[in-house]
Amino acid sequence: METFKHLISIQSLSNETIDLIFKTAKEFKEILQRPVKKVPSLHHKTVVNLFYENSTRTRLSFELAEKRLSADVLNFTVSGSSVAKGETLLDTVKNILSMKVDMVVIRHHHSGAPYFLSQHISIPIINAGDGINEHPTQALLDVFSIIEKTGSIQGKKVAIIGDIMHSRVGRSNIMLLTKLGAEVMICGPGSLIPIGIEKIYPVRIEYDITKALQWCDVANVLRIQLERQQQPLLSSLREYNLQYGITQKRMHALNKPILILHPGPINRGVEIDSNVVDGASSIVLEQVENGVAIRMALLYLLSQNH
Ligand code: CP
Repeated sequence: METFKHLISIQSLSNETIDLIFKTAKEFKEILQRPVKKVPSLHHKTVVNLFYENSTRTRLSFELAEKRLSADVLNFTVSGSSVAKGETLLDTVKNILSMKVDMVVIRHHHSGAPYFLSQHISIPIINAGDGINEHPTQALLDVFSIIEKTGSIQGKKVAIIGDIMHSRVGRSNIMLLTKLGAEVMICGPGSLIPIGIEKIYPVRIEYDITKALQWCDVANVLRIQLERQQQPLLSSLREYNLQYGITQKRMHALNKPILILHPGPINRGVEIDSNVVDGASSIVLEQVENGVAIRMALLYLLSQNH
């Protein structure tokens, strides 16, 4: 097994390590069903959550995972910090680490920020989403949720639908799914699919949502990330919903069950309609539940390797 010192990218994980993460997460998930959900695994460890970008699920999920493992937790958000006075990322982190912190979780709006930190500090770093680059813990919880629901990932047909261009979730999912032997299709308007992506990853491209839904066993529906679009790439959100939205009508027309995932936050009525999000095919809240177990597993395994 490779030295699993940080979690920066899905690319650096071996299949053996991914299996270990899933096995450990399964054990932690079982503990999370008990009346007493806390274990002493990270007693005497201190973890800092550095969030340079907004988050609901990932930030709370990491904090809860750390607390369930009995770690001491520091939460840093840009608002109210000295970043506004011009302090650099590295200075901020070095100052926090001088307070004897054992592990860093970082979300940053700049792609590559977790990798940059890993070149300067030696304690474990977990990437909680960097720019449009990667969101490895989201991909791990997505695939864990698919396996939990369907039994396996090898050979599964997974369509990743929507704003592929700006999606770190999409990129990490493509890497993880193809590594584990799933067949991956990406589907969306041409303006939101990176040119030549099929030359980098073994994915097929489909521009017709009906064909994509007919092909897949699982659809992972991505948010349209208007905040990351430098120029208008869609005529309108209404038009997007008409062309690519996961609607009840499209679901009924399939005549077969498919599993629906969404990493959140959801734009209801844009990439997916409310009655599908809240319907029987959707596992969006199970994804969130599994996120805590996956993050507990990662924190635990990284603390063991350090
Ligand atoms: N899925 C996800 O990363 O959600 P948040 O931005 O709320 O953390």
